[in-house]
Amino acid sequence: MTFNRSIKIAPSILSADFADFGREIQAIEAQGADWVHVDVMDGHFVPNLTFGPPAVKAFRPHVKTFMDVHLMISPVDAYIDAYADAGADMLTAHIEAGPHIHRTLQAIRGAGMKAGVALNPGTPAEAVSDLIDMADMVLVMTVNPGFGGQKFIDMTAKVRKIRQMIGDREVHIQIDGGVDPVTAPLVAAAGADVLVAGSAVFRGGSVSQPEVYGQNIAAIRAAAQGV
Ligand code: DX5
Ligand code: ZN
Repeated sequence: MTFNRSIKIAPSILSADFADFGREIQAIEAQGADWVHVDVMDGHFVPNLTFGPPAVKAFRPHVKTFMDVHLMISPVDAYIDAYADAGADMLTAHIEAGPHIHRTLQAIRGAGMKAGVALNPGTPAEAVSDLIDMADMVLVMTVNPGFGGQKFIDMTAKVRKIRQMIGDREVHIQIDGGVDPVTAPLVAAAGADVLVAGSAVFRGGSVSQPEVYGQNIAAIRAAAQGV
């Protein structure tokens, strides 16, 4: 996939119907999703549990766009090959998940995937200053990870600093947590280009009413592009 900084909407299937992932993925892509965001939680790094590699592998044939896998697990390294085998296009690990994030990013790229590095709200921008060349994306969390539907925490100052660090390099800035048509313009103006949204995309819709997903995606995109 060629790099560009246009706004991309990445619905998080954490807010989808867990009994119907295949059709949910097809519905959001048909309704304008640019990427599909898959939240992997281990009940240890975050207080919630979601999908392991076999589930992610089962999602893969349904994803025609770009499968963006956000690991909220610790440790990470032992699972990298399993997520590569599951078909992740991007694998994002948290900087707080272990002492050797640089090695983790090397291993993710070595396994043939794009590498993302995620920062919790309490982690400063400076923590990634020596990692920019190792990463294809920096994920700035705007909630404490673990659950969908939380209130947006304003991290725009951090996003601006990271945007400056990146300069001309082909590195995305992703925002995850509490993104909706009100908060999207704030982070887009600060330099983010990939917006994850769970509840704000799936709210009010279903596989039998997918046009609501389309309206929700369009509203977030229009708000972000209006800056
Ligand atoms: C939070 C997850 C998010 C979450 C976003 O730990 O990483 O991707 O699903 O959900 P909303 O958009 O509802 O805040
Ligand atoms: Zn996420």
